[in-house]
Amino acid sequence: MVIMKKIKVGINGYGVIGKRVADAITLQEDMELAGVCDVVSDWRIKIAGEKKYPVFAFDDDYKKQMINAGIPVKGNLEDLIASADIIVDCTPKNIAAKNIEKYKAAKLKFIVHGGEKHEVTGHSFSAESNYRTAIGRESTRVVSCNTTSILRTLTTLKKAGLLKKARGTLLRRATDPWESHLGGIMNTLVPEKEIPSHQGPDSQTVDPELDVITAAVKVPQTLSHLHYWNVQLTKIANKEEILSAFKTSTRITLINYTDGLTANNVIKEWMLAKGCLVAGYA
Ligand SMILES: NC(=O)c1ccc[n+]([C@@H]2O[C@H](COP(=O)([O-])OP(=O)(O)OC[C@H]3O[C@@H](n4cnc5c(N)ncnc54)[C@H](O)[C@@H]3O)[C@@H](O)[C@H]2O)c1
Repeated sequence: MVIMKKIKVGINGYGVIGKRVADAITLQEDMELAGVCDVVSDWRIKIAGEKKYPVFAFDDDYKKQMINAGIPVKGNLEDLIASADIIVDCTPKNIAAKNIEKYKAAKLKFIVHGGEKHEVTGHSFSAESNYRTAIGRESTRVVSCNTTSILRTLTTLKKAGLLKKARGTLLRRATDPWESHLGGIMNTLVPEKEIPSHQGPDSQTVDPELDVITAAVKVPQTLSHLHYWNVQLTKIANKEEILSAFKTSTRITLINYTDGLTANNVIKEWMLAKGCLVAGYA
């Protein structure tokens, strides 16, 4: 009998992304959740305790606050680092970059997210585009949701030998749903000043060969992002060839207007009904 050693994964930052990564880890046969770490003491981290996830605080001050709020705390970030084989840092933009010295000092592998710059790890990752180049690395950066979508879509066309170049307009939701009471735009559209917007160049950190330019507009809703693409193909192709290319991806779902899936609010409801882990963020 082969006994598989499970990889112990620590999550630093239990927010929009961290809580989804934690749930996803509990579904993997070869991984175990070493714990989740945060600085908040309210409902956001209490849910982790209710799920019986080991909870850690960033430092001793936050640990005291959590204990005062009735949260059972296992330790601080150093304790989580000591009990993990790898850390997935899901803290907000620019915070992960400050944590990585701790991971390096502990000789831990680590993953950061799209809020950090490519240079923080020197490698940016999107599974269907460059999985193999991540094997054996000490660290990588999982690109943002918009960049991931660009890569998934264009990579399928590229693998089918169809992609020459792509020009996209990204309609970006104004804020994450859970914090829309705190801020966000209303009754306006805010075009990004710079063209290209950063998402096109960001996808080239994963695949430098992509000929892609993006423009982005912030829109006053929180359901999801929506991308429109003009794609120049390498040859004349019919609809079936394009759909066949998209069907080769395990990360793209094709949907039908005739099923009533005609707008983002309906699609989100459909995803929730299917029990989709990531419903609620694009
Ligand atoms: N929200 C999205 O849709 C989205 C999509 C793709 C990528 N990302 C990227 O994922 C990363 C995380 O974003 P998010 O949206 O989950 O942020 P978030 O603000 O929802 O969550 C971050 C969590 O980290 C905690 N935190 C803050 N400082 C900390 C510290 N010093 N130590 C430990 N925890 C700390 C916060 O309390 C919060 O719970 C960012 O790089 C972001 O750019 C976000």
